[in-house]
Amino acid sequence: MPAITVLGSLNMDLVVRVASAPSPGQTVLGHGFEMIPGGKGANQAYAAARLAKQSGSVAMAGRVGADSFGERLKSNLAAAGVDVTHVSSSKNTPTGIATITVEDGGQNSIIVVSGANFDWDPASEAELESFFAASKFALFQLETPLPVIGKAMAIARAAGAFTILDPAPAQPLPPEILELADLLTPNETEAAMLLGLTGSILDHGDAEEAARRLRRLGTRNVMLKLGKNGGYYLGAEAFPVAPFPVTPVDTTAAGDTFNAALAVALSEGAAIQQAARFASAAAALSTTKPGAQTSAPSRAETDAYLSEYTR
Ligand code: RIB
Repeated sequence: MPAITVLGSLNMDLVVRVASAPSPGQTVLGHGFEMIPGGKGANQAYAAARLAKQSGSVAMAGRVGADSFGERLKSNLAAAGVDVTHVSSSKNTPTGIATITVEDGGQNSIIVVSGANFDWDPASEAELESFFAASKFALFQLETPLPVIGKAMAIARAAGAFTILDPAPAQPLPPEILELADLLTPNETEAAMLLGLTGSILDHGDAEEAARRLRRLGTRNVMLKLGKNGGYYLGAEAFPVAPFPVTPVDTTAAGDTFNAALAVALSEGAAIQQAARFASAAAALSTTKPGAQTSAPSRAETDAYLSEYTR
């Protein structure tokens, strides 16, 4: 039975590459276009399956449309070994898409049109009890309806799973959702949004202080994802997470890969410090390849990178 369960979005990413993103009213020529499987939920499931030592340990629940994008997204996950039995089809709404602009420096901007990701029906919600039955680690993000996320987190908790909530894309969250998170993993802008601040938490003080304030909102543990600055963990113990020096070509889904790798390492019995190091390495590697699911590193690549780096 899958030990890692992911409830979340599946999007077809429509990726445009450009030297520099246009300002409002400006037209520029891009130099590449691709359709790449994405969606924060699907990216986490896909990366977890690539990183897990044991096959068959990852399952996903989500919604796609009854269309070719939906079929392609499901088959890509299945090819990586993700159980997609609980990815169901909406009759009314097309599969979600994301338009992604990637600049030559690797920076991206994303617009998501949620489509079927927001079209949950009572039958799909009813399946959540059996979906989480054997879950040890349950992963969530914010590209599905908040009431479904809340319900699913409560079910996962009751089943004994450790819940990991990635509060992305950034939005304020009520305490009843934050209290269901065993681990909250915001980046610096998501953390700022949760704390009612503008911009990045690092504009308002240090990471340690932000993590302390986030914990006071109700979540048990916090892992701040700080991109090229690494991260910061606050739980029963506290420690900074060292970044890995890479030259990024595309940062899309680096945060998703981080969460996937963290869950995989914890599910294999790693201590939190060791799991954070594994996650930081996998996320760094993902930025060296273009695309969302296309950039998820394998277990062999990640292990080799870590042992090369520690030599
Ligand atoms: O985190 C990256 C993802 O955000 C993309 O794959 C896109 O689909 C959006 O959901």
